[in-house]
This record gives sequence, structure tokens and C-alpha cells, in this order.
Amino acid sequence: MNLVLMGLPGAGKGTQADKIVDKYQIPHISTGDMFRAAMNEGTELGLKAKSFMDKGELVPDEVTIGIVRERLGKTDCEHGFLLDGFPRTVPQAEALENILSELGKKIDYVFNIDVDADILVERLTGRRICKECGTTYHLIFNPPKEPGVCDRCGGELYQRKDDNEETVQNRLDVNMKQVQPLLDFYRGKGYLKNINGQQHIDQVFSDIDALLKDLK
Ligand code: AP5
Ligand code: ZN
Repeated sequence: MNLVLMGLPGAGKGTQADKIVDKYQIPHISTGDMFRAAMNEGTELGLKAKSFMDKGELVPDEVTIGIVRERLGKTDCEHGFLLDGFPRTVPQAEALENILSELGKKIDYVFNIDVDADILVERLTGRRICKECGTTYHLIFNPPKEPGVCDRCGGELYQRKDDNEETVQNRLDVNMKQVQPLLDFYRGKGYLKNINGQQHIDQVFSDIDALLKDLK
């Protein structure tokens, strides 16, 4: 299954991606995670991405498309993949169509996790992530059993640098400008499935999973 997860910052892409890849054992390709890994390693890509990410701006299309092209060509994507946070612009979506057609593949579903923008600031500023395994929590909506400690692996929880209120607001503004043309693009292709992201995390997954079961 070849899947794309769309949604504004904080809509729950990462949270749902973890559940989908756990169940269906396909690679999780998050451009945000790839940029953060490159930043931690101090590579040239990481340095390039950092200046944009710290301000909540989009990394330029040519950089982002390049890393996705390389990643989708790897052998573990042969039997499916889940793209999370890519594409985010129409040129990225057009490039993805070309990459997939070169690889002889096509998208099965684009899930758009739909959440009202006014609750996203609270979701993002309250997010905490495990340093060791990457599991995502929320101080109020999905708290760990012991404050600051991951339920899964005991790792320490941290807050992402771009999850402060000012950067969050800019991320939302920047992404809101791109989203409508992208939704129109995918609606036109017939791939788009809107998912109500304002339900309990497990219910959101169950709505996505109901569609995935038909693909097997
Ligand atoms: P990226 O890492 O992709 O961040 P984002 O799009 O801003 O999305 P987030 O990861 O913040 O949110 P999410 O939707 O995954 O929400 P989560 O599940 O964690 O990108 C970061 C940056 O990289 C960008 O700003 C840009 O600079 C660059 N970049 C990345 N891709 C790019 C691209 N294609 N082009 C150009 N630049 C790119 O959930 C959020 C919180 O809410 C959590 O605390 C969670 O526990 C909670 N929560 C989740 N679901 C629910 C629910 N149903 N109910 C209550 N709480 C919930
Ligand atoms: Zn952990």
C-alpha cells in the first residue's frame, strides 16, 4: 500500500503514522523526521534545513523533493510506504507523481487529517516526544503514565524546538496557504480521503484502518 498523510501541523500525522506502520509494516517516510535527523548529524542537508525549520518556514521544494526521490528508490519501499508531511505544495505533489510513475507505482490513498486550526496551537505547545524511541505524547490529551518519562521505553521526553508558540503560529500560517490547492490536486486525482482528526486518537486510526483493510 502506497499512502500519503496530510494535515496541518499538529493534526496528528505522526501519531497516526506510528499506528499505521506498526500494523502494516511499511516504511514511515517523514520529511520532518529526515530533516531533524540530518540536523542532529550536522550534515549539509541538516544545515540547509535548520534555517527554515527554526522559523517555521518550508524547506525549498528542490531540497525536499531530492531527499524523497532518493528515499522512495530504496528497496524497503518496494511493497509500500507511508509518506508523512510530504507533499506540502503542488510542485511537490507533481514531482511525486513523476517519481512514482518512474518507479511504476501509484498512490492508493491520500488521507487528509482534518482539524480546526484554532485547537492546533494547544496540541503543538503541549506535545512531548521520547528522545529514545520517538513516541509522541501530549501533556493533557495523551499524557505518559509518569511525567517526563516514555511509557514504551523509559526514555526521557523533550519538546521540539519549533513547538514554541511564536514558531507554531508561523508554521500554521505557512501551511494554511498551501493546503487548499494541494487538496484540490488530490481530489482531482481521486485519491483524497478526509478523516475527522478531532476524535479520540484510536477512533481516528479506526477510520483510517477501515479504508486500509480494503486494500489488503
Ligand atoms: P514536520 O515534522 O512534518 O511537522 P509538522 O507538519 O509541523 O507536523 P507535526 O509533526 O508538528 O504534527 P503532526 O501532524 O505529526 O502531529 P502529532 O501527531 O505529533 O515538519 C517540520 C518542519 O520541517 C516544517 O515546518 C518544515 O520546515 C520542514 N518540512 C517538513 N516537511 C516538509 C515539506 N514537505 N516541504 C517543506 N518543508 C518541510 O500530534 C500533535 C500533538 O497532538 C501531539 O502531542 C499528540 O499527542 C496530540 N494529538 C494527536 N492526535 C490527537 C487527537 N486525535 N486528539 C488529541 N490530541 C492529539
Ligand atoms: Zn520511548
